[in-house]
Amino acid sequence: MDDPRLKILEKLKETKGFVSGTQLATELGVSREAVWKQIKLLQAMGFPITAKPRQGYRLEGWPDRLFPAAVLPLLRGKWGRPYYHYPQLQSTNETLKQMAASLPEGAVVVAEEQAGGKGRRGRSWHSPPGGIWFSLLLRPAVHPLALLSLPLVLSLAVVKSLSGFFPELDWALKWPNDILCRGKKLGGVLVEVAAETEQVHWAVAGIGINVNISSFPPELEGRATSLELCRGKKSCRPCLLAAILERAEELYSLWCREGFAPLAKDYQALFLYRGRRVRVEEEGRFWEGKAEGVDDKGRLVLRLDDGSLRLLLGGEVTLREVRNSYEKENCN
Ligand code: BTN
Repeated sequence: MDDPRLKILEKLKETKGFVSGTQLATELGVSREAVWKQIKLLQAMGFPITAKPRQGYRLEGWPDRLFPAAVLPLLRGKWGRPYYHYPQLQSTNETLKQMAASLPEGAVVVAEEQAGGKGRRGRSWHSPPGGIWFSLLLRPAVHPLALLSLPLVLSLAVVKSLSGFFPELDWALKWPNDILCRGKKLGGVLVEVAAETEQVHWAVAGIGINVNISSFPPELEGRATSLELCRGKKSCRPCLLAAILERAEELYSLWCREGFAPLAKDYQALFLYRGRRVRVEEEGRFWEGKAEGVDDKGRLVLRLDDGSLRLLLGGEVTLREVRNSYEKENCN
């Protein structure tokens, strides 16, 4: 937090009324003119700061941009440092993978938009301005097989932080890593890994959340949603990103220490299709049965028609029995 602008923001953020130029100058160890210069730069960046003669400066809001000055003052954990922000990238996962060797755990790459956003299973990920598109570098000291539950941990962290802001919305997780709001897909997690048989070098966890997006292309309409569509108004992306990083760091450290078991109950509580008849495609094989939930390793527990249990490590789940016309249109 050596950047003087971040220090000014920090001070203005924690004060309800005006902060005098003299006070800021003293705290930063610079002249009042230097403070005024930084304030003008912050205003130019989009921070709504009122300046009043003899009273000082007051922060009136927070810009809806993900550049470092808007996000770093909100971070409370260790993650998010270093923080790389780009107006546009092909894919934050691709950029972070190229940089991974030299970066520490918790490094973040964020883009305001992605031209070639990647989804799971080779799909593309629609990433226009207004979303939160970022990748996180992780170096978990776990067996590579344990990484199967990492996307579940991160999607749970996203839902926990978003539902903390917006408890009135209906949240769910579609195994393994889809984030749903009001029955439609609001976000997803894509984990890419560099590992050997026994050792993980790094994992790049890409997280995409549809936030301030007012419409989707026809092929996604009906299946995708955004916070803006669910809430009927825009949300503060820097606030959400900071909260997600903090919650993800917390759940991830628990997962590194104790595995998925302590998180299974919370995941289970949000598990979509619990008790419902589903079809799962796992590496070209199809399984059909009743979804019972997840086990303590994050595997999908499927009750097959002969009564036996099948534990699935990954795949694509689709609903088989449809209860109403809404599900028919939206659920798969
Ligand atoms: C999914 O298919 O549900 C996973 C979507 C993951 C999208 C995010 S957006 C940020 C990061 N960069 C990418 O190219 N993809 C992930």
